Amino acid sequence: MVRKDKSNYRFLVAVFLFCIILIHDLVYPFVLVEKASQTSTFDNQQLNSITTIEEEPESPQSSPQTQFYSLEQKNLRKAALQRVEEDRRGLLEAANGTSHKAFYKAVKPEVFCEKNERIGYKGDGGKQVCNPAAVRKEDCTLLSLGLHNQIDYDQAIFNATGRHCKLLGADMNSQNAKTQKSYEEMGGEIFVGKIPANLTIPEMLEKTGRSEVELLKIDIEGGEVDGLEPLIRDYQSVYVA
Ligand SMILES: *[C@@H]1O[C@H](CO)[C@@H](O)[C@H](O)[C@H]1NC(C)=O
Ligand SMILES: *[C@@H]1O[C@H](CO)[C@@H](O)[C@H](O)[C@H]1NC(C)=O
Ligand SMILES: *[C@@H]1O[C@H](CO)[C@@H](O)[C@H](O)[C@H]1NC(C)=O
Repeated sequence: MVRKDKSNYRFLVAVFLFCIILIHDLVYPFVLVEKASQTSTFDNQQLNSITTIEEEPESPQSSPQTQFYSLEQKNLRKAALQRVEEDRRGLLEAANGTSHKAFYKAVKPEVFCEKNERIGYKGDGGKQVCNPAAVRKEDCTLLSLGLHNQIDYDQAIFNATGRHCKLLGADMNSQNAKTQKSYEEMGGEIFVGKIPANLTIPEMLEKTGRSEVELLKIDIEGGEVDGLEPLIRDYQSVYVA
């Protein structure tokens, strides 16, 4: 979810989000993985070289955590990468509709996650997150869309990522004093506005001088499609360029 010119052609490594759909109260996994790649297809050499979880490209000084996949996992990952363009097209088409249920049905995980962690309370507030401790970047950004004065996820993900990431929250209603205070204590910022009519994700990033997002949580019942679709479209156009 990074909009940059081609000379600085880097994306966030992974955006992992889980949403609660109000109607069914189900959790839908949503994973978008953007690779810093010049091509839109993966050749055999690239596929065969998939043995480890990709490291965050911007922190070469951090100690590499090498995790080898089993053969089965490696094959699953290969198959997922080979389907990736088709899946993206499907997602883009689903985002063009008005049904957020259809949109989430089209969402497919693009990575195999070995270390799923439940972040936040059980039930509506908690979210499954893939290996949150892997966010090692100094200048990391956590996005939390939809607060409803329930910020146990926000506090837990802030902790799980080392208590130094910038936390950006958003909700269509202003939050109570307790929520605002908790956000302040974490050095976070809360935006108020309906996404995307009165507030967009790029606006939030621009106002806080961020260009990359490490983790995105979205829980904005029904606003997901309109809020994310512009980002998916932008990403798509950069990716295939
Ligand atoms: C979205 O839908 C409209 C009308 O159905 C169509 O004209 C347009 O090409 C579609 N866009 C994409 C990106 O699929
Ligand atoms: C996060 O860490 C702080 C400081 O260590 C602690 O007080 C707080 O209870 C933790 N919150 C969660 C939700 O893990
Ligand atoms: C939010 O956006 C809608 C649609 O663009 C507009 O009619 C409304 O005035 C906006 N509200 C605020 C508070 O800006």
